[in-house]
Amino acid sequence: MKKILFVASEGVPFIKTGGLADVVGSLPKCFDREKYDCRVILPKYMCMKQEWKDRMSYLTHFYMDLSWRSQYVGILETVYDGVHFYFIDNEYYFAGPKPYGNIYQDVEKFAFFSKAALSALPVIGFQPDIIHCHDWQTGLVPVYLKDKFHDGDFFRSMKSIITIHNLKFQGVWDMKTIQDITGLDKSYFAPDKLEAYGDANYLKGGIVYADWVTTVSKTYADEIKTPFYGERLDGLMKARANCLSGIVNGIDYEEYNPETDKFIEKNYNAKNFRKEKIKNKRALQKELGLEQDDRKFMIGIVSRLTDQKGFDLIAYMMDELCQLDVQFVVLGTGEERYENMFRHFAWKYQGKVAACIYYSEAMSHKIYASCDAFLMPSLFEPCGLSQLMSLRYGTVPVVRETGGLRDTVQPYNEYDSTGTGFSFANYNAHEMLNTIKYAMDVYYVHKREWNKLIDRGMAVDFSWKASAEEYEKLYDQLLGG
Ligand code: ADP
Ligand code: GLC
Repeated sequence: MKKILFVASEGVPFIKTGGLADVVGSLPKCFDREKYDCRVILPKYMCMKQEWKDRMSYLTHFYMDLSWRSQYVGILETVYDGVHFYFIDNEYYFAGPKPYGNIYQDVEKFAFFSKAALSALPVIGFQPDIIHCHDWQTGLVPVYLKDKFHDGDFFRSMKSIITIHNLKFQGVWDMKTIQDITGLDKSYFAPDKLEAYGDANYLKGGIVYADWVTTVSKTYADEIKTPFYGERLDGLMKARANCLSGIVNGIDYEEYNPETDKFIEKNYNAKNFRKEKIKNKRALQKELGLEQDDRKFMIGIVSRLTDQKGFDLIAYMMDELCQLDVQFVVLGTGEERYENMFRHFAWKYQGKVAACIYYSEAMSHKIYASCDAFLMPSLFEPCGLSQLMSLRYGTVPVVRETGGLRDTVQPYNEYDSTGTGFSFANYNAHEMLNTIKYAMDVYYVHKREWNKLIDRGMAVDFSWKASAEEYEKLYDQLLGG
């Protein structure tokens, strides 16, 4: 039995701010349980729903040195869907209304979490063969592992992997402070280690010290070696190219299943969507006060409202888009300028645009199930899960060809009748507009072709199966077979 430990800052169903949580929460249960014992360790945030906190049971606690500080480390555990989850408790670090706050607090929070996760292992008696870290919040884990922990027998042969879900966020702060927080020797703060452009960089530390680096799609693995996508670490990514691979994300096929989904008005499947899917659209139009019209081309967006997702293109084109025969349903929170933009358009185009500026799992499922198309014109997209959810629900994705969007949405080709969605190459508002118009034309004028697009989209398999096997292969390879 190979033992794997996921260390991450979020995971469903316990806590989620984005796709990272979906991956961390849904991948571990997809490994071959005969061969891999994959457990997960997360912070116990005060803002977790009581329902989840109630499921955790106290295991033990100890005190840990973090530089000159001595900090309480509580450990709780629960088993969910057959997977063992551990939680690190410390009310000083993990208070607050959200998992992440100010970066200067977060760097200390996640230094604590990273060290505590390692320190907890001998105490709970779980000795992983591989520690699999996710994003900058856990970038210090490989560093600590090679540092102090390496001396003891318990840790010596442990390997580490870091998965980059988003290279944009690196956990950067000034070196002096980070040295004081982490207690790491000065020698670590050099350009071939944690230092980047004069500051300390957690993600860089993880990338340098991990035995292997992965990211969440093949295209993104290539893109981050270029200056445009490299977020100033493209040189490092090139240097690590021989230990870097892209493994595309999957989604939880039980959670996201139009046939059994509890959140949606009417369940349907790949056989009966032609008749049944429309009932979801009707219900959503009613719920959100949109014009009741079966025919209307309904475009959905479910997203963090940040510039990563291409909202500049949408802002630029929104007036023009609203002149077309369409409806827009937007669900998201994030940057105020985008929140206000959608509120504005919902007011200006009542009955045509619905702006749901909040977070709701239920509403997200309704949108995936109800819309005709799903828009995701991202500036960059390491993988993207929303387009996979849309495909699963027979909602045709319209995307920009970048990162995981390029790898998972096959563009429609009207001549040989192939493809699962629509895409455009350049980050250009008119290209996006023309692609939407093309999709609308197929929808309104070539309905049979449109339905075949849905047939093909619903037939592709983006469950975790294939990708979980790729991770297993990587684990085997790192452990020498
Ligand atoms: P990212 O991780 O960059 O935000 P992904 O496409 O990988 O993008 O994952 C986003 C996840 O968050 C999806 O599960 C999506 O449904 C969900 N999501 C985003 N915004 C909201 C929201 N306002 N309400 C509910 N779910 C949301
Ligand atoms: C990040 C990326 C997104 C990816 C998700 C899960 O949040 O922005 O593209 O799907 O992580 O890997």
